[in-house]
Amino acid sequence: MDNIISWTAEDEAIIATNTDATECKRCAVELGYWKDDYISYFVKHVDRKAPEINRGYYARVRAMEMFIHQFLERCDTKCQIINLGCGFDTLYWRLRDTTQAVGNFIELDFPSVTAKKGHIIKRNKQLLEKICNEDGEVVIREGDLHSDGYHLLGCDLRCLGEVRRKLAVGGVSDTAPTLVLAECVLVYLRPDAAAALLRHLAATFQRCALIVYEQCNLGDKFGEVMLRNLNARGCALAGERLCREPSAQAERMLTLGFDKARAWDMETVWRALPEDDRARVESLEMLDERELLLQLNTHYALTVATRGDVFADMDLNA
Ligand SMILES: C[S@@+](CC[C@H](N)C(=O)[O-])C[C@H]1O[C@@H](n2cnc3c(N)ncnc32)[C@H](O)[C@@H]1O
Repeated sequence: MDNIISWTAEDEAIIATNTDATECKRCAVELGYWKDDYISYFVKHVDRKAPEINRGYYARVRAMEMFIHQFLERCDTKCQIINLGCGFDTLYWRLRDTTQAVGNFIELDFPSVTAKKGHIIKRNKQLLEKICNEDGEVVIREGDLHSDGYHLLGCDLRCLGEVRRKLAVGGVSDTAPTLVLAECVLVYLRPDAAAALLRHLAATFQRCALIVYEQCNLGDKFGEVMLRNLNARGCALAGERLCREPSAQAERMLTLGFDKARAWDMETVWRALPEDDRARVESLEMLDERELLLQLNTHYALTVATRGDVFADMDLNA
């Protein structure tokens, strides 16, 4: 039996982090950090963010994409992607434009977030036409949006039974190569709930890769300030105690059933990006204090955990 988890004001604060992420992404896109033709449908107006925030988001989006493409190179499009805590992420549409549409793309978030995302999709032809089935239709069932190869499903990731039910409704395959994305989401789950979810995913998908982006090194002074700021907004990080050094993140994945796991702080990821890429981004805005970016970069990490030989060589410099 699943635990019934009651809805709290804290959940509202967690849901609001999606608005933040979407606004920051739109701001960076408008400034030319990367191309995303779809983000502007999901958030209308944004104030300009500080240069270190824009660069931080660039590294986050670029790093996620880099590993998504490594995954796709290793299994072509006969695979599935599960986007945990998808928020208003536009990856599905960006992949469609690069012809890397995958067999099945399943997005999960709280029902209030998926309902809003579904509503925005239905209202905007440019979004809708990319997910329609052959008859030009999408199906809305029990608040979820379904199409051939795209499913947007409302559920609470803390309830494993609900996640399993929703994945089944989304036509998940236990045998297809599977990419699981968790961009700034697991940290909002209590460690036991996150562990149950990841253990289940690792046990179900024998050929899979998991990409996690979230805070790390929260034990120092800068980490304390980050936590205090989040707490002041009513948004505690339930998984805070797991946000230690990146190597601890990787070790945690191994204990949950993945064969291989690597993790890097975002400063390491940033330095591993091609030089011309960094030079282009650095020319977009003046950054007076590189120290600020360094602090941010050393408090976020990217973890890649895999099961199956085909993904074992996914790496920062692969
Ligand atoms: C910081 S946002 C990130 C959104 C998206 N992954 C991105 O990076 O743009 C965190 C997302 O996780 C979702 N989330 C957090 N806890 C959740 C839970 N227990 N169940 C479902 N979604 C959850 C929030 O609703 C929110 O959309």
